[in-house]
Amino acid sequence: MNLRTYLAITISLTVLLVPRPSHALDDLANGKRLATQWCASCHLVTPDQKQAKADVPPFMTIANRGEEELLRLPLFLANPAHSKPGTQMPDFNLSRQAIADLVAYIRSLKPKLP
Ligand code: HEC
Repeated sequence: MNLRTYLAITISLTVLLVPRPSHALDDLANGKRLATQWCASCHLVTPDQKQAKADVPPFMTIANRGEEELLRLPLFLANPAHSKPGTQMPDFNLSRQAIADLVAYIRSLKPKLP
């Protein structure tokens, strides 16, 4: 293999394999957008939101739950009634990507320790 081929392969692999940190930021921003659009009528979804339904847990409260509960969120969001029979939480038929983005956003609301 000559040097040009070697470089071409190396560069393509680097572009393909190196994780792009901006992706995580996109997920958060999209999760926030979805939350504001679909979830804010019942939940407080941002710390500065003024009104939501009483007795629906604010996203900040959910974010403060233990890791075990946070790990269950994707399953709950995929089919709320299946995880919690009788729940008032509607099924939005969210895609896997939408669920991942929403959970990333909810997790970002956990207060960071200094
Ligand atoms: C029509 C009102 C309503 C809307 C809209 C709504 N929720 Fe909920 N949600 C609820 C209620 C009520 C609960 C409490 C469910 C329970 O404990 O049975 C809940 C609970 C939850 C929980 C916690 C589940 C648990 O295990 O305690 C999460 C996470 C959640 N909602 C996420 C979302 C997301 C994400 C959206 C937007 C895509 C959304 N909700 C939109 C009413 C709503």
